[in-house]
Amino acid sequence: VGNASKPKLVWLELNGCSGNIISLLNGQNPGFAYMMTSMVDLVYSNSLMIPEGNQAMDRLFELLRSNEPFILAVEGAVSLKNNGMYQIVGSYDGKPLTGLQAAKMLGARATHVIAVGACAVDGGPSAAKPNLSQSVGLQQVLERKIIKLPGCPCHPDWFLGTLSHLIAFGEPALDRRDRPLLFYSTLIHDRCPRLDYFHKGIFSKTLGEPYCLFKLGCRGPVTRVDCPTRRWNDHINWPIGASTCIGCSQYGFPDQMAPFISY
Ligand code: SF4
Ligand code: F3S
Repeated sequence: VGNASKPKLVWLELNGCSGNIISLLNGQNPGFAYMMTSMVDLVYSNSLMIPEGNQAMDRLFELLRSNEPFILAVEGAVSLKNNGMYQIVGSYDGKPLTGLQAAKMLGARATHVIAVGACAVDGGPSAAKPNLSQSVGLQQVLERKIIKLPGCPCHPDWFLGTLSHLIAFGEPALDRRDRPLLFYSTLIHDRCPRLDYFHKGIFSKTLGEPYCLFKLGCRGPVTRVDCPTRRWNDHINWPIGASTCIGCSQYGFPDQMAPFISY
């Protein structure tokens, strides 16, 4: 499929660790390579594109000046400090382009906006106390519908599945907090393989024991996402299989989910 017939995708990275685009590279079904060859024309991604500096910014601004539709994916939080000057994503016409400006310009033009990962959704670790950069989630600077995919990072299936749905059928059904019901409709606790231990009152006393982790501070009872059945790293394991759930996909992570382990 040629690029002309594929929807255009812009992936904007703001305050964060680039963990979501790295997680995306681990996508399996559909995979990242399939996304690139058959699903979208990735116009801009500062981590993955070959052009650098002005060449990269030219691609972004050519798209902005055109009438062409595009989907915007944003990872990372928006820094508000000093009118965004603590977060520069590039320069254009000799002036710094702040993340705040880029988010507003692209967000105003995109057909759909997807906030990928905890930081873009509601600030996440980038907005954790003391939040020196005054980072906020994307919704605080954009007055439009944003599809939200919380997670630290976002599972590749959550993004690729949402993108596939957008392209094939339009916007997926969302809950009242704009999360796709496809992935965020069930509590981890309700589908946890250790739930039987919870009901019988058998609890792990240290990480590594195979019982319910509730008394160690497991956040499964308050976190709504499909990790128990989807799992990570090619669907092999997941946080409760390795240590515990720290609620990375719940609103308010990390400040409202801490302390992560209770002893
Ligand atoms: Fe619930 Fe966590 Fe216990 Fe699983 S390990 S049953 S999610 S409290
Ligand atoms: Fe995160 Fe808990 Fe899933 S830590 S990846 S929401 S099991």
